[in-house]
Amino acid sequence: MNGKTHTSPSAIYPGSFDPLTLGHLDVIERAAAIFPRVLVAVVVNPQKREPLFTLEERKQMIVAATKHLTNIEVRDFRGLLADFAKATGAGVIVKGLRVVSDFENEMSTALMNRSLSGIDTMFVPSDPMYSFVSSSLVKEVFSLGGEIDPYVPEAVLHVMRAKRASQRSTEPSEEKHPS
Ligand code: PNS
Repeated sequence: MNGKTHTSPSAIYPGSFDPLTLGHLDVIERAAAIFPRVLVAVVVNPQKREPLFTLEERKQMIVAATKHLTNIEVRDFRGLLADFAKATGAGVIVKGLRVVSDFENEMSTALMNRSLSGIDTMFVPSDPMYSFVSSSLVKEVFSLGGEIDPYVPEAVLHVMRAKRASQRSTEPSEEKHPS
C-alpha cells in the first residue's frame, strides 16, 4: 500500500431513455452494484429525433423503475456530456453495448469524452436477453399494437398505456357517411 486513500469513483450513465427499457435497467443495476453512486443522466434534447416522452416523463419512469436501488440519482442535462460529467464530479461514464457494431461509434465517443473531460468510459455488455431491445423498437412495436411487457419495466408500461389511452380519447371519432 502506498498510504493513499482509495475511494471508488461515482458513475454517470447517460442516455435519451425514450423510454427506459429492461436493457437499460439491467445496466443501471449492474453499475449500481459496482459503484457507490450512479447518476442516470437524461439528455434534454436527444439528437435522433423528437422524443415521444417529455423530459419529466422520461425522468419519472427511471425514478419509478429504480426505486429498489438506493444509490441512484436521476438528473437531466443539456449540452456536452463531458462538461456535465465533469461538473458532477463523476469518475467514470458507463455505456451499455448491445451488439458488436455498437462498439465502433461508442469507441470514438468514449475517446472524445476522455479527451474533453479526462473521464474514461466503462462499457457494460448487454445481457443477451436484451441485446435486441432498443427504445425505438419498443416504440414501434407498441405503436403497432404489439406486446411490450417483456421489454420495459412495469412503470414504463403504465405510462405508455396511459399515453395510448389519452391519445385515443383525443382522436377525432370516425364520421358516419350515409350509404
Ligand atoms: O440513449 P442514447 O440516445 O444512445 O444516448 C446518447 C447520449 C445522450 C449519450 C449522447 O447523445 C450524448 O452524450 N449527448 C450529449 C452531447 C455530447 O456530449 N455529444 C458529444 C459526444 S462525443
